[in-house]
Amino acid sequence: MNILVTGGMGFIGSNYILNRMEKYDDFIYNMDSITYASNPWYLEKVKNSPNYKFINDDINNISIHGQELRDLDTIVNFAAESHVDNSIKDSSSFIISNIMGTHALLEHARKNDLRFHQISTDEVYGALPVDSKEKFNVDSPYNPKNPYSATKGTADMLVRSYCNTYGLKATISNCSNNFGPHQHREKLIPKTIINLMNNEKVPIYGDGRQIRDWIYVTDHCNGIDLILEKGKAGKTYLIGSDGEHSNIEVVNEIMHLMKKNTDMIKFVDDRPGHDRRYAIDASSIRKLGWKPEFNFNDALRQTVDHYTKNYENYIL
Ligand SMILES: NC(=O)c1ccc[n+]([C@@H]2O[C@H](COP(=O)([O-])OP(=O)(O)OC[C@H]3O[C@@H](n4cnc5c(N)ncnc54)[C@H](O)[C@@H]3O)[C@@H](O)[C@H]2O)c1
Repeated sequence: MNILVTGGMGFIGSNYILNRMEKYDDFIYNMDSITYASNPWYLEKVKNSPNYKFINDDINNISIHGQELRDLDTIVNFAAESHVDNSIKDSSSFIISNIMGTHALLEHARKNDLRFHQISTDEVYGALPVDSKEKFNVDSPYNPKNPYSATKGTADMLVRSYCNTYGLKATISNCSNNFGPHQHREKLIPKTIINLMNNEKVPIYGDGRQIRDWIYVTDHCNGIDLILEKGKAGKTYLIGSDGEHSNIEVVNEIMHLMKKNTDMIKFVDDRPGHDRRYAIDASSIRKLGWKPEFNFNDALRQTVDHYTKNYENYIL
């Protein structure tokens, strides 16, 4: 396949490119506008590969790259502004990248008859009660609670409308919270590890009991490949690995792995409108034959090891 991966200099996109290039002989174009969230060091090992090409541009400009991308058959769209806190401060760039950017890619896919896959989030479904066993499933109603999730939900609706209106061969995956190498240090797990390495306290929002359904990034990437291979056009797939842990549990486990004291935690004012719990019913992707390969505790140990060994690359 000739695949355009967008946002491939960010966390999940870069892991996706490395994982995909290990498994298949595709040609990968990586289009990324190199925002503050990207960090090209992680793709150094493939940058001169004959089946990889980086295009330094905004996805909103895809139409000017038609000639360069003439042999393309598939777009996998990771590019997005991804940090909820930033969207609360100013959501303009979220509208431009997450909604308008997705629209530009959909137009390109429609005009060139391309396969399209949209990377989305479980946050579009809103929040679940902490004390319930309920999980999000493919029929859960969209109920985004912050500007980030509202822009991701809007993009999903655009994708669905292109399937319905134009018969675009598109799929969507809504995944839970990822962790693993090459995540920006603004996010909980890298921030905890790096703060502890610097002997700085780890800020925790509110009471720290917000529950997220953690998945190791490689499990997410393998799920996307399976959807490209076996997914049905017009369908949504939920990806999650039954990894529910509260933020405070995650931070405590990292402190344990790094042999640090619990007095390194600093509770700070909660994020406005902070969702209490996310949990995924992953039966849609499990039916395609997917299952997670990584156990939370082992993968977290591996992740702590990665950030401690590559510390310099995360403090730039
Ligand atoms: N991180 C998670 O836990 C998680 C969970 C579910 C879904 N997602 C989704 O996965 C995707 C990737 O998330 P991530 O955590 O890797 O994000 P990230 O912030 O680490 O990376 C995003 C990348 O997109 C690029 N980008 C942003 N706007 C762009 C634009 N207009 N044009 C070109 N490039 C642009 C950035 O430069 C960056 O390299 C996002 O769509 C996000 O909504 C993330």
